[in-house]
Amino acid sequence: MENMLHRNSSQESLADNFVVPPEQQLPPATSAVVSLPVIDMFGSRDDVRRAILDAGKELGFFQVVNHGVPEEVMRDMLAVGEEFFQLPAADKAEFYSEDRGKPSRLFSGTSFDTGGEEYRRDCLRLSCTAPISDSTKDWPNKPRRLREIVEKYIMLARGVGMEVLRLLCEGLGLQLDYFEGDLSGGALILEINHYPSCRKPSMTLGLPPHCDRDLITVLLPGPVHGLEVKYKGDWIRVKPMPNAFVVNFGLQLEVVTNGMLKSIEHRVMTNTILARTSISTFIQPTEDCLVGPAEEFLGEDNPPHYRTHTYRDFMRIYNIVNLGSSLNHTTNLRKIQKEI
Ligand code: OGA
Ligand code: NI
Repeated sequence: MENMLHRNSSQESLADNFVVPPEQQLPPATSAVVSLPVIDMFGSRDDVRRAILDAGKELGFFQVVNHGVPEEVMRDMLAVGEEFFQLPAADKAEFYSEDRGKPSRLFSGTSFDTGGEEYRRDCLRLSCTAPISDSTKDWPNKPRRLREIVEKYIMLARGVGMEVLRLLCEGLGLQLDYFEGDLSGGALILEINHYPSCRKPSMTLGLPPHCDRDLITVLLPGPVHGLEVKYKGDWIRVKPMPNAFVVNFGLQLEVVTNGMLKSIEHRVMTNTILARTSISTFIQPTEDCLVGPAEEFLGEDNPPHYRTHTYRDFMRIYNIVNLGSSLNHTTNLRKIQKEI
């Protein structure tokens, strides 16, 4: 619990392990702050399908508006997330755990193995399996409305992700229910990310460069800047847009589409003045689910680029991230998969 950042976020000097070693200089984002492509889910189905596929192939990241999730639910989710981190330390302490096997817990840093660097993020991770009422009792009961708000929010956020997947199926010529079932039927994970402000943002990161390991991620970025996405060798600083979700593809989607859709590297910078709260929802396969390139993406000219693996094996092996030289590039993904 002493590792928690929110307790000393106004500290004058940074602990050594938050400082990026000189040999791993942080390449700054050279671009201006940009908006990700905006997809209006209320548009004609043809347009939406095409826009998702275009944005997905070009960038792997986009934002969706008119997605049907009430503004109030999004606002409540961010507010209750912020409130949680403002609770007295004693209230949070009982939920703190460094045991990665614990499905729901409070921890600090990233859940990837790193080379010893730590990251300026506190995270409340809430796991949700069916029936949802069994999961909620493992979640904190403070703030008072947390369980109720998360329960409502997480199902709606999942709905957005599943709708994007259905549209992708239409666009890619896959059976409409291709991603229903085991591919998306694992524990649904909600992470409330709290990034304290940092006086020297160039020296630390909120999260290291990484690709999400799930199938698809639905992110509520909150109003404060921080998310950066790799694009053509540079980092794009993402401008948050009110009431929009940021959607990005996880590595399982890259595998299933045999690389047609890529899971793109991203990282989180800290902010000099403002603390930031964001909410990630991860849709993932069941642990036993065999994930491999779908037949529809294979042919004589298109051999499989990825090994078929169970999601459990993938998560076990693909757990390392190195600052500045992430192992998450596609080539490495392939290399790592050979080891399975
Ligand atoms: C993540 C992530 C981005 C953000 O949780 O995997 O990339 O902006 N979060 O918090
Ligand atoms: Ni991520």
